Amino acid sequence: MPETSLDLHQLEPILSQYAPLGRTALLPILHEVQTLFGYIPPNAIQKVSHRLGVSVEEVDEIVNFYPLFYRQPAGKTVIHVCNNPVCANAGAEAVMKRLSQSLEARRAAGEQPGTLTIEYSPCLGLCEHAPAMIVQGAPVARADSVSYEDLVSGKLRHPRSIVRNEIAILTANCGKNRVNWLALYRASQGYRGLEQALQMSPSQVIETIKASGLLGRGGAAFPTGKKWETAAQAPGEPRYILCNADEAEPGSFKDRVLLEDEPHLILEGMLIAGYAVGARKGYIYIRGEYLFQYQVMLRAVEEARQAGFLGEHVMGTSFSFDIEVRRGAGTYVAGEETAQIESIEGKSAYPRPRPPFPTAQGLFGKPTVVNNVETLANVP
Ligand SMILES: Cc1cc2nc3c(=O)[nH]c(=O)nc-3n(C[C@H](O)[C@H](O)[C@H](O)COP(=O)(O)O)c2cc1C
Ligand code: FES
Repeated sequence: MPETSLDLHQLEPILSQYAPLGRTALLPILHEVQTLFGYIPPNAIQKVSHRLGVSVEEVDEIVNFYPLFYRQPAGKTVIHVCNNPVCANAGAEAVMKRLSQSLEARRAAGEQPGTLTIEYSPCLGLCEHAPAMIVQGAPVARADSVSYEDLVSGKLRHPRSIVRNEIAILTANCGKNRVNWLALYRASQGYRGLEQALQMSPSQVIETIKASGLLGRGGAAFPTGKKWETAAQAPGEPRYILCNADEAEPGSFKDRVLLEDEPHLILEGMLIAGYAVGARKGYIYIRGEYLFQYQVMLRAVEEARQAGFLGEHVMGTSFSFDIEVRRGAGTYVAGEETAQIESIEGKSAYPRPRPPFPTAQGLFGKPTVVNNVETLANVP
C-alpha cells in the first residue's frame, strides 16, 4: 500500500484509546498500526509520536528494534518458517525452498506482488510439530506437508496439542484440544486456591509458598516465596506482578501449552501473587509470535472479569486486582526480566543493570514480582 493512499484517519480510534496511557502504550499501538496497514508507515510514526509525546526518533528506534515490526509493506499473509535445530533437522530448509519457488513461479506468471511474505524465524515454540511455521499468527504443524495453495486458500488446521503424561498435574487439562472455558476450569477446583488464599493473611500466603519449596521455572530456580517476600517488604506503591510468557528459548514450548490450554490456572497464580505482595495490577507479556495464545489469554481475562475473579473486590473481598495482556514483538532478549520491563514501558528491550532488582524497582520504578508462566501455574 503506497503511503499516499493510506487513510490515516483510521488511526484516530486507536490513538484515542491508547493516548491516555502515554509511552507504555507504544508497543500495543504499533501492533495495531501494523494490523491496519500491513506495516508501519513513516507518517503513522509521526502521528503516534505526536499523540504519545514521544519523539519521532524514539518511535523510529522502537520500530527498528523489534523484528516483528515492518517498515516496508509486507505481504497480505506473513509466514514465519522456523529454522532452529529441531525444525532444521525436520526439513525446514526444504520447506522454505519449496514455498519460495512456488511464490517466484506465481510472480513470473503475473500474480500481484504482495500476496505472501516468507521469512525464517527462530524457534516458534512449536517444536513438537516440527517442521513448524506460523501463518499470519496461526501455528501450522508439519509444514513439509503444506502446499503453497493451502497457504493462499487459508485451509490450515490448528495443530492438535500433544501432551502425553502418565502423571499430569499442571497439564491435567492440556492436550485435550478443548477451549478451557471458565466453567470447565471451575469444575476441576479452579479458583479454589485463590478462595483459600483470600481467607489467609498475605504473609501466611507467602509462608505457604516458601514452605512449598516452589522454585522459579524461568531458568534461574530462584525461590518464589523469597521473591514475593522481598517485593512485599519493599517500600513503594503500587506494586506489580509480571507474568513472563516470552518463552523464546530454542526447544522450549512448555509455557505455550499452559497458555493455550490452562489460561485460568495462570491468572489464578497471578491473583494469589498479587494478594500476597499487595499488588493491584498484573501484566502478562507474551512473545509476539504467540498470537493465538495472546488471544486465548485476552479472552480468559475477560471471562475472569465477568465472573468477579478480576477487577474491583475480587470474590467479594476488599482485594482488587486487574490484568493487562501485552504482546512482545519478536526479540529473544525481552525474556530477560528487566528488558521485559523496559518493553512494557514502551522502550527497546535492553536489560537494565542490576541491582536494583525488580522486586525493589521494577515496572515504572515500583516493586515488581516477575515470575515465569509455569511458576505461577504451580501456585494454585
Ligand atoms: C536472555 C534471557 C532470556 C530469558 N528468557 C526468559 C523467558 O523467555 N521466560 C522466562 O520466564 N524467563 C526468562 N528469563 C529469566 C528471567 O529474567 C527471570 O529470571 C524469570 O522470568 C523469573 O521468573 P521465575 O522466578 O518464575 O523463574 C530469561 C533470562 C535471560 C537472561
Ligand atoms: S525449533 Fe522449530 S519450533 Fe522450536
